[in-house]
Amino acid sequence: MDTVALVPAAGRGTRLGAGVPKALVRVLGHSLLSRAVRGLLDSGSVGHVVVAAAPDQLDPMGREVRDLGERVHVVPGGGERTDSVRAALRAADRLVPSAEVVLVHDAARAFTPARVIRDVVAAVERGAPAVVPTLSVADTIKRVDDEGVVAETVDRSRLRTVQTPQGFTVDVLREAYGAAGEVATDDAGLVERLGYPVETVAGHTNALKVTTSFDLAVAEAVLAAGPV
Ligand code: CTP
Ligand code: MG
Repeated sequence: MDTVALVPAAGRGTRLGAGVPKALVRVLGHSLLSRAVRGLLDSGSVGHVVVAAAPDQLDPMGREVRDLGERVHVVPGGGERTDSVRAALRAADRLVPSAEVVLVHDAARAFTPARVIRDVVAAVERGAPAVVPTLSVADTIKRVDDEGVVAETVDRSRLRTVQTPQGFTVDVLREAYGAAGEVATDDAGLVERLGYPVETVAGHTNALKVTTSFDLAVAEAVLAAGPV
């Protein structure tokens, strides 16, 4: 099946505070954007990539992916992440009409191992409408009340943190984004609301999202350790 990956990269990177949009921040010489897009293509499971860039960053982001060939497209994103994904999905309908599987992958998760990408695509190809990579929770989790006093210790055995790429059939993601004005912290959240089952595959600690400068330091260590 033809697979297109949507890469929302239109955020400002406020929490990182690097002075440039986060996707343009370089780690050991290469930007998060170019690393994320190259990782998708190199997995062998992704045919095309549509990057959503802030409208004033189309040129610099286009330059970052120019070397990666004609299978990579850069289009204008929107004010919220959901707006950027919606814009990229619309562009994908036009640019890659043959795609049946769609991934949504944050530029900020630039170090995701190929195995994770391949597992997500394979699960959709086997018939899952939606798939997310997850990790078990290592810390003890407590729920607190309005005053910050512990109300309960939550059983963490069934809790998972969720990464990207998240995979969908194109029809299901289109339906999820069809409802105007929807907001969710992840794309699978929109699909859950429609009642579709969301399967999980094993994520990887290297698929961390670069949010703060601490994460950048971790990312450098991950790269220095070599491929997984
Ligand atoms: N994103 C996007 N369009 C937006 C906001 C975010 O495409 N309007 C993208 C970001 O570029 C990033 C991903 O969504 O790849 C996850 O968002 P986040 O980690 O929050 O990145 P930023 O919004 O850039 O960071 P911050 O919230 O610190 O400003
Ligand atoms: Mg943000």
